[in-house]
Amino acid sequence: MTYHIISIFPESLSSYLDSSLLKRAKEKGLMNVLFYNIRDYTKDKHNKVDDRPYGGGPGMVLSALPILSAVEEAIEKSEKPLVVFFTPHGEQFSNTVADEIKDEYTDVIFICGHYEGVDARVTQILKTKNVSIGPYVLTGGELPALVMIDAITRRISGVLGNDVSVEESRIAPKDPYTRPECFTYKEKEYCVPEVLRSGDHAKIDEFRKEN
Ligand code: ADE
Repeated sequence: MTYHIISIFPESLSSYLDSSLLKRAKEKGLMNVLFYNIRDYTKDKHNKVDDRPYGGGPGMVLSALPILSAVEEAIEKSEKPLVVFFTPHGEQFSNTVADEIKDEYTDVIFICGHYEGVDARVTQILKTKNVSIGPYVLTGGELPALVMIDAITRRISGVLGNDVSVEESRIAPKDPYTRPECFTYKEKEYCVPEVLRSGDHAKIDEFRKEN
């Protein structure tokens, strides 16, 4: 899967994408991320990415043409692309949506909006899939892009040690513990439940189910 990130702050995403699971997925050739800075697609000498909204109102709106040019370049580099636009009014993202995208597309192009929005002609022209990652308002589309990349990538075969269905059907501990077995904090002792130290896997599964 190749992800294309169209943003005015593309560099803000790289430290997370270069960590842990996503880094390993990239190294294994199971995913790739390409960045497109909207500013690089402006035509004026000040590299202006936004302007005042028609009809008045607060804030600035990201202009359509630089975004359309960036998306065009991303589409040229894609095989079977989906263009995603982030908005709190979009379809709720879920594991089901992640699986559909993983199974149907080779490339996902994320348009990360900012400020008071993006010129409405972008979504009209591109017929984007409009996605929300939850019932709250964020300042931009960069975090939703990271959320989708993480959720989709971990479902790609070969990314996790086990298949994702195996991973997710494991009795994952709701309350996990690690070493040390006991420690004292503010004069009180805290120990790992006895059963988890017993080595008896049937009992451990039973305990986790109950908890
Ligand atoms: N942009 C602003 N808020 C958002 C949200 N909750 N999900 C997706 N995009 C957004």
